[in-house]
Amino acid sequence: MNTVKAIYPGSFDPVTNGHLDLIARGSRIFDQLVVAILQNSGKNPLFTVEERVEMLGAAVAEFGNVSIATFDGLLVDFVRSQQAQAVLRGIRAISDYEYELQMALMNRRLAPDLETIFMMPAEKFSYVSSRLVKEIFRLGGSVEGLVPPLVLDKLKERGRE
Ligand code: PNS
Repeated sequence: MNTVKAIYPGSFDPVTNGHLDLIARGSRIFDQLVVAILQNSGKNPLFTVEERVEMLGAAVAEFGNVSIATFDGLLVDFVRSQQAQAVLRGIRAISDYEYELQMALMNRRLAPDLETIFMMPAEKFSYVSSRLVKEIFRLGGSVEGLVPPLVLDKLKERGRE
């Protein structure tokens, strides 16, 4: 039987309910889904990779076919090392499309047999991003309902530094 393994890569700094919506959708379509956290994004992250692994691990515990991994270097190399066939990415709005298309086509050039599959999160998450969650929290706004409970706890622990 043909099984399909997909990699869902990203920074996940931190994981949002939009990411989780996509993971839930991906877990229904793919036999195996690996959520892969980029280690050296150069983005000056709020959470360490270890913290992000912990938060994601707790958030996806309910899905039997979803696992968490970290990677460094080229995504296509990681996908090959995992013997996966597809990359999953979310598209929230047209504004995401240009960047995503560029990445997907570049990855196709690097690994022609690899498919990038785009899925849309639920509309209610179409404006949610890790960047805005961090900014709103830092400035004293509520991010309840936008991130899983453990992320909310971690944000509060850290304070609005
Ligand atoms: O959540 P993000 O930050 O939008 O995710 C971007 C990510 C991790 C998917 C992208 O930066 C990536 O794949 N980086 C790994 C390095 C790489 O392969 N770069 C070439 C992409 S065409």
